[in-house]
Amino acid sequence: MSSSKYQFIHNIIPHLSPSQKGQGRANVNIALAKYWGKRDIELNLPTNSSLSISLPGLGTETTIQWIDNSKDTITLNDQPCKPEQPFAARLSHFLEPFRPDPQGGFEIKTHNSVPTAAGLASSASGYAALVLALNDCFQWQLDLKSLSLLARLGSGSASRSVYDGFAIWHQGQQQDGMDSFAEKIDQAWSNLKIGLLEIDISEKPIGSTQGMQQTVNHCELYQAWPQKAEKDVVTLQSAIANQDFTLLGTTAENNALSMHATMLATWPPICYFQPDSIQAMQQVWQLRAQGTEVYFTMDAGPNLKLLFLEKDQQQLKESFPNLKVIHPFSVESETTT
Ligand code: PMV
Repeated sequence: MSSSKYQFIHNIIPHLSPSQKGQGRANVNIALAKYWGKRDIELNLPTNSSLSISLPGLGTETTIQWIDNSKDTITLNDQPCKPEQPFAARLSHFLEPFRPDPQGGFEIKTHNSVPTAAGLASSASGYAALVLALNDCFQWQLDLKSLSLLARLGSGSASRSVYDGFAIWHQGQQQDGMDSFAEKIDQAWSNLKIGLLEIDISEKPIGSTQGMQQTVNHCELYQAWPQKAEKDVVTLQSAIANQDFTLLGTTAENNALSMHATMLATWPPICYFQPDSIQAMQQVWQLRAQGTEVYFTMDAGPNLKLLFLEKDQQQLKESFPNLKVIHPFSVESETTT
């Protein structure tokens, strides 16, 4: 992150004098209109806007402290990480522009409450929590828009994880990415539920950055994607404003399948589906045909996330006994198994 592309960071952060041990926490989010494709890999600038919902209770908590005359020390879930481990190397690289001097290092302790069984990527909550911790450590008092912009540099989807509830990440047009940040959609939806359906939680064969690049460069269908995604973002905004669940569900499921269609149509093909993913999709379609309104979305992995309303929760628990239910907008309890 030392390239001149990062000069703009110093227009956002007021200084580099750490004042205390900082802490931050953020939830993971799932996109209902997906981010798939970068126009700038280094700055994580997307080819389309995206829209997400945050999953309360599933996220990352991080503390950070600057130590003079030291190297970075990173622990993940109480386990020390070796500097050459990909998790630690990526984090130290991200921190380059935030170092007060080259002699010291950051001490970072991070905990993910994302259960491995959920099969959710934690980089979104991870980089959002890290940026919130930096803001606290340096006492910058940045607004959420600036924090979203900085989190984006760690992981694109992290730009949306600085908010609870629904968020929209604006694609932006500027080369330096100053107009590419997420904003909260200030609308709750109390009976909307998300179900996590675990298919396989082993490490995915192709990471999202590589998958995106392969699709952008080698898929003829990809040309249609950015426009399709932008249209879906607008439709979802209206579905949220009107609490139109049918519009929300149909748009989200179609958006996810359209994204996967671009992956399948790339060469060499990228397929995150496993036989059990397809079987679960067919079960969702069958339930819908029988009158239960349930939809799914899928990211760069084989696991499904179901969208449904509270009234159908019991029925879905019966159809999918391992379903982990998230309550994105209810105050009482955030998750039930
Ligand atoms: O932020 P990344 O690089 O992990 O990419 C996320 C890509 C998807 O999860 C497939 C879609 C999205 O918008 O979250």
